[in-house]
Amino acid sequence: MRFDILTILPDLLTGPFSNSIMKRAQEKGHLDIHLHNIRDYSTNKQKSVDDYQYGGGAGMVMSIEPIASLIEKLNADRTYDEIIYMTPDGELLEQGLCNDLSLQGNIMILCGHYKGVDERIREHYITKEISIGSYVLSGGELGAAVLVDSVARLIPGVLNDETSALTDSFQDGLLSPPVYTRPPSFNGWEVPEILLSGDFGKIEKWREERAIERTEARRPDLLNE
Ligand code: ADE
Repeated sequence: MRFDILTILPDLLTGPFSNSIMKRAQEKGHLDIHLHNIRDYSTNKQKSVDDYQYGGGAGMVMSIEPIASLIEKLNADRTYDEIIYMTPDGELLEQGLCNDLSLQGNIMILCGHYKGVDERIREHYITKEISIGSYVLSGGELGAAVLVDSVARLIPGVLNDETSALTDSFQDGLLSPPVYTRPPSFNGWEVPEILLSGDFGKIEKWREERAIERTEARRPDLLNE
């Protein structure tokens, strides 16, 4: 799966993709991430990427020309399944959307800044607008990192058995049950007996009950979907 990320701050995105699972996914050829600096497509002397907003008001707006010419260039090279704009007024990113996107081949992601991008970019190029939560970030880059990570880990082969996505929270509409590792006792705090029992039928049932209990307590909205 290929991601092309359009940003004015590519350095913000190198860290999240050069460690751990995302790094291995690229090394194994499951994931191909390309960062594009929008500023490289600015044609004026100052290499500016923003301008004052028409009608007045505080805050700059990302200009249409550099973004349009970068999108046109990428569109000429290959077909994109989605051109996504990261924005706080987009569709909320949830596991179902991650699952759907993980079935795609080529995805372009535009990271916004300042007051956002010129609306004509959204009208004429963007196919999906995504928010990672009901709060405002300084830019779309951190959102793009969250999106790519949550989608890429679902690509077959990216995770091994131990890190399998099938037992993740949300994947079955429930939060995950609590987990424990050695030692069995710490400061008098005990691991639940049943997990040490070796009775896998009972352990499975216990996990399911705890998952339901935790979901009822923390995210009852998931049970009503
Ligand atoms: N850009 C700024 N805030 C954002 C958010 N909450 N989600 C996605 N992109 C954003």
